[in-house]
Amino acid sequence: MNSYRLLALLVFQLFFFNNAWGQSESTIPDVEALLQQMSLEEKIGQLNLLTPGGGVATGSVVSKNVESKIKAGQVGGLFGVAGPERVRKAQDIAVKNSRLKIPLLIGSDVIHGYKTTYPIPLGLSSSWDMDLIQKAARMAAQEATADGIMWNFSPMVDIARDPRWGRIAEGAGEDPYLGSKIAEAMVKGYQGNDLTAPNTMLACVKHFALYGASEAGRDYHSVDMSKTKMYNQYLPPYKAAVDAGVASVMTSFNDVDGIPATGNHWLLTNLLRKEWQFDGFVVSDYTSLNEMIAHGLGDLQQVSKLALKAGLDMDMVGEGFLTTLKKSVEEGKISEDEITQACRRVLQAKYQAGLFEDPYRYLDTNRPEKDILTKENRAVARKLAAHSFVLLKNHNQILPVNKRQKIALIGPLADSRNNMLGTWAPTGDSKLAVTILEGVKNVAPEAEINFAKGANISDDKEFAKKINVFGPRIVIDTRSPETLLQEAVAAAKKSDVVVAVVGEATEMSGESASRTDISIPDSQKKLIRALVATGKPVALVLMSGRPLTIPEEFEMPVSILQVWHPGVEAGNAIADVLFGDEVPSGKLTASWPRNVGQIPIYHSVKNTGRPGPKDEFEKFKTNYLDAPNSPLIPFGYGLSYTNFAYSNLKVDKPEINQGESLKVQVIVTNTGSYDGAEVVQLYLRDVVRSITPPVRQLKGFQKVFLKKGESQNITLTLKPEDLKFYNSSLEFVAEPGEFEVYVGTDSACTLKTSFILK
Ligand code: BGC
Repeated sequence: MNSYRLLALLVFQLFFFNNAWGQSESTIPDVEALLQQMSLEEKIGQLNLLTPGGGVATGSVVSKNVESKIKAGQVGGLFGVAGPERVRKAQDIAVKNSRLKIPLLIGSDVIHGYKTTYPIPLGLSSSWDMDLIQKAARMAAQEATADGIMWNFSPMVDIARDPRWGRIAEGAGEDPYLGSKIAEAMVKGYQGNDLTAPNTMLACVKHFALYGASEAGRDYHSVDMSKTKMYNQYLPPYKAAVDAGVASVMTSFNDVDGIPATGNHWLLTNLLRKEWQFDGFVVSDYTSLNEMIAHGLGDLQQVSKLALKAGLDMDMVGEGFLTTLKKSVEEGKISEDEITQACRRVLQAKYQAGLFEDPYRYLDTNRPEKDILTKENRAVARKLAAHSFVLLKNHNQILPVNKRQKIALIGPLADSRNNMLGTWAPTGDSKLAVTILEGVKNVAPEAEINFAKGANISDDKEFAKKINVFGPRIVIDTRSPETLLQEAVAAAKKSDVVVAVVGEATEMSGESASRTDISIPDSQKKLIRALVATGKPVALVLMSGRPLTIPEEFEMPVSILQVWHPGVEAGNAIADVLFGDEVPSGKLTASWPRNVGQIPIYHSVKNTGRPGPKDEFEKFKTNYLDAPNSPLIPFGYGLSYTNFAYSNLKVDKPEINQGESLKVQVIVTNTGSYDGAEVVQLYLRDVVRSITPPVRQLKGFQKVFLKKGESQNITLTLKPEDLKFYNSSLEFVAEPGEFEVYVGTDSACTLKTSFILK
């Protein structure tokens, strides 16, 4: 035991009289004994989460007088502070200079990697690889804890069916089953088996709840939804995180059934604590408590009271709790017990993280060098990125590209370091990112590369200004758009193949980055048309933080590789896939609409009373005059350089009883000429039930690797809970009757069998 730990133990021994030397560590310290020591003000102080402004400020507030507040026992946690030295300074103030010496919880948004940034979460979800996702979260925790951070504002699990919403980039897409599996994998990855280990961190599932259903895809907008839709479609991933033992929950900005989530008693107490038995702590989002004033719920004292009574334990940045709760106690509006309860939960989290035993356990100055941005981590990030790419189209097998060719590498994102990391990468460093131009040179040094920018990401200066708040993402060239275009066409003409890297800049998705037009900006559309007009084979490398509307490009004779925002190893990973060193295996986790008029769009729609013929117009059926109902590209879709065939679908029993599992088997064969991985997907249709069923729901998947020519008999197991849904009394039940089973390569698959639930 080092001298610091010994000192810390002695200090706490003084405060927690019930500890005796020789007792097991788990009884030290005792949160209840600590609560006994605390004044009302000190308890309220623990409910206050501040940021001294080191991170990305997402609201107008950056906390003031942080040091003196820590000394005065008015701060429970900090975020936006990183690095063993800086965190030690903050922790020292709390542990040495505040009366009760309670350590601070140090949080951060480690959304897709810490310094080793991996693909945006929507991209990561497209890998459908739970082991890899858990590994990615583990790696992020290893790096973040090396920098003194022990609490992560992740995973973000908001179901999103509206790609106008910029924050679709941060989650796992549209599906509650897949979203739940990913939520669980991420919580396990961050938290590991032992929260006191110096390389694990408390996870925080967010944004509770329904944030992804913001009306019209406008960020922070209202949400209104039936309970059956909530329970069946939107709540499962949050619940999966809770079931996986997530230590904390962050509330959302939106209202739920008319009451802002941050002050919603039904949500935070009835559902979260009573129904789901959540025993961690609840933190608000950035000033979401204060925002209840603008929502129309009252003044700061009133909304703080409402939020505390609803079940909020910690107030992020807004200081509503700090400045009003004492007054509310004095006026008899809340009881001290209610504050004690919130404080208890915050202290328990600190205890869980091992901070009482050693407030400096995450502060080893040797660790950053050893653990952060290592070669191994970068190699993992490269693999993660390659596995997140989705091949949307491969006209004439343009991809993979032969390395021994003349390649025109074109596009405003081809050599744009600032746009590789993607949204919500505040801990990453875009200067470390590999551009596509560099990646292509690394992977194919023998290739002759003709580079041209070709176009600006957007020619619209006003738009560029909005996007460039965190740095130059859209750089409008001093050359005219015509000159850029001519250079690109000339480069294409003298090459064998064209690779055009186009799409969205990093900040065109993410928080406060909703769009009503989600197509490729005009400047780039012109470029793509001009390149295709050269008659050269064209592969589009499409970068975005959301599904885009690409009906025109999808019809062109081109190949399209969707790469999201791939992270620090962007260029290398893209080159690996372009040249066939990696074979694409990603599948979409959100449907791609034909146009914004189809939004909200998702695969598990209901049949309605007036289903029409598939994608054909028929009067008085549910459809549009001017577009089919189906998306341009369905959920679960993604091609490979090889092909897969499905056959012999069967279930192991024609009938099952309630509570029984069922095995679904299918033979999958790699019929093409590359080794590759396929995501085998199982969809279920509950033919008749007491509330209208979706036409199909994802209820199983497995990612399998098959060598060329290889066949595998794949077994997917349907568990009793996979047949269940929340009925109109919100009971989780499976109702007897027929179930159709579809297995295949995406959500439009047709191979079908069925069984009966007795
Ligand atoms: C975001 C959260 C984030 C918080 C702290 C807010 O603006 O909505 O997702 O965790 O800021 O950075």
